[in-house]
Amino acid sequence: MSSEGDVILVTGGTGLVGQAIKTVVEGGLKRPGETWVYLSSKDADLTDPAATRAVFERHRPTHVIHLAAMVGGLFRNLRYNCDFLRKNILINDNVLETAHQLNVQKVVSCLSTCIFPDKTSYPIDETMVHNGPPHPSNFGYSYAKRLVDVQNRAYHQQHGRCFTSVIPTNVFGPHDNFNVEDGHVLPGLIHKAYLAKQSDSPFVVWGTGKPLRQFIYSLDLARLMVWALREYTEVDPIILSVDESAEVSIKDVSQQVLDAIGFQGPVVHDETRADGQFKKTASNAKLRRSVGWDVEGVKWYLPDFQFTPLSQAVKESVDWFVTNYETARK
Ligand SMILES: NC(=O)c1ccc[n+]([C@@H]2O[C@H](COP(=O)([O-])OP(=O)(O)OC[C@H]3O[C@@H](n4cnc5c(N)ncnc54)[C@H](OP(=O)(O)O)[C@@H]3O)[C@@H](O)[C@H]2O)c1
Repeated sequence: MSSEGDVILVTGGTGLVGQAIKTVVEGGLKRPGETWVYLSSKDADLTDPAATRAVFERHRPTHVIHLAAMVGGLFRNLRYNCDFLRKNILINDNVLETAHQLNVQKVVSCLSTCIFPDKTSYPIDETMVHNGPPHPSNFGYSYAKRLVDVQNRAYHQQHGRCFTSVIPTNVFGPHDNFNVEDGHVLPGLIHKAYLAKQSDSPFVVWGTGKPLRQFIYSLDLARLMVWALREYTEVDPIILSVDESAEVSIKDVSQQVLDAIGFQGPVVHDETRADGQFKKTASNAKLRRSVGWDVEGVKWYLPDFQFTPLSQAVKESVDWFVTNYETARK
């Protein structure tokens, strides 16, 4: 990817991943001549085709990192499957079709490992996205996200477009949504640990604590997404995940949160709460593949990418939440 005159539009630029991209781009990944624009829903409601077109015409992007989505944890998904389906279909269709109409050179959209089939073999890899129904808890979000991959292939086949997608595991970090009811598990644990410490009350983990998850620090994901924008040339998605050996139980990651925040009180499990999928182990073998060549040309992958150790990333996220408690999303 050349850089002089490139305009990279980041939809969902105010969110967890968008703010992480801003941090790493401004922290050194920005190339001379590039302009990065970070969109909020206040700049344009991307469920609205006219507003989407207007914001694209205003910035005339050459590249798009598409993050904007209705996002939430297990409990919000369970309540609002219809909204997750409709809003995300609308946002994705408006962004991709407008990018096509305005001749955007490349779009990298964000899927998620939680959209894979419920009944599957492990580890999950990129070829399995459409192999069976998703977990019933988040079928609305899942089918909307799966359609992005379908659209990417359709835009490539019919129009020769370079629209692709990445598939992160559970993301966490600064600027997360720390709402206990609606957010994802790790920021929810951080918020609950903060409140338990403040009020000197027991720390309550929802569910058994047994489910296993791979967590990726938002700043690591941001570096990988900038790499994908610049170097990843396939339409097919690529999983962006820590190694399988870095999978942890909710119980273990809870303990890391408690260590980071300095809570020594009692820990209880509320087993009346749903656990969600027991595990979703994803393979990052494609990302870890060595540089090589195939019939489509040169393929660059990242066999040596160093992920931030989980305990360090949890500590940094806890410190960010404590420092920014008044303004954090919660
Ligand atoms: N968080 C995770 O664990 C995770 C895991 C895998 C994949 N992902 C994917 O990563 C992407 C980013 O997620 P995130 O965690 O950064 O989400 P987030 O923190 O909730 O941010 C969502 C972003 O989308 C924007 N947005 C929402 N509705 C919009 C609309 N109608 N029009 C325009 N913008 C809208 C929000 O704008 P405002 O804040 O200005 O309203 C915000 O910038 C999403 O596509 C998500 O599916 C996330």
